[in-house]
Amino acid sequence: EADPGFSRDVIDWQKRHGRHALPWQNTRDAYRVWLSEIMLQQTQVSAVIPYYLRFLETFPTVQSLAAALPEQVMALWSGLGYYSRARNLHKCAQTVVAEYGGVFPHDPALLEQLPGIGRSTAAAIAAFSYGARAAILDGNVKRVFARVFGIDRFPGEKAVENDLWQRAAVLLPEQDIESYTQGLMDLGATLCTRSSPACQRCPLAHRCVAFATGRTAELPVRKPK
Ligand code: ADE
Repeated sequence: EADPGFSRDVIDWQKRHGRHALPWQNTRDAYRVWLSEIMLQQTQVSAVIPYYLRFLETFPTVQSLAAALPEQVMALWSGLGYYSRARNLHKCAQTVVAEYGGVFPHDPALLEQLPGIGRSTAAAIAAFSYGARAAILDGNVKRVFARVFGIDRFPGEKAVENDLWQRAAVLLPEQDIESYTQGLMDLGATLCTRSSPACQRCPLAHRCVAFATGRTAELPVRKPK
C-alpha cells in the first residue's frame, strides 16, 4: 500500500456519502453479488434494480438459474440489452453448479475463467462476496485514475492499461476492501463523471492532477482516431 491516504479518503467518503442500500449490498451471497455485477456491466443502477429483484424472485439460487430454460432466462433479461450477458449468465450458472458444487470460487483468477466474467468483475465479486483484496478497474475507475494521476495517454492502450492495473493493485487498502471497492465505483459513477465532474465534492480533489491543472475536460485522453 504505497499511499494509505488514497484509500482512506475513498473509504471515508464511501461511509459518509456513498450508496449503502442498493439491493445487492449488505449481502455476502456470491450468487447475488455476481448477478448484480453482470447486470451492472453496461447498465445504470436505476435500470438494473427492477430486473435484479425480478430475477432473484424467479431464480433465488444458482441451482435454480442453472436448471432454467434458456427462453425463460432471456425473457427475464428482455429490455436490459447486451443479450450475450444473459447467455453467458446462464452458462456461468451451469458451470458453477457442475464444476464448483454451486459455490462461486474465491480466487479471482478462477472467477475470471467463467463465462461473462472479466478481470475487473472477478475482482469485484471476490471483494464483495469474500472480502478478497483484489483490484478493480472498470471504465469509471479508469477515468478516476487517469484524472487523479494525470495520465495523458489513451487508457485503452495496452501499456497504459497495464500501468493502471499496477496502480490499482498498489493502492488497495489492508482493511475495508468492500467499502473501498464500492467507493471507487460510486465516485466514478456519481462524482467523477465524464462531462461534468463534481470536483467541489470529491474527496480526491486535493490529490488530483487533473483538478489542480484544470484538465478534467481533457482527461482521460480520448481514443485516438
Ligand atoms: N457498477 C458495477 N458494480 C457496481 C456496484 N456494485 N454498485 C454500483 N454500481 C456498480
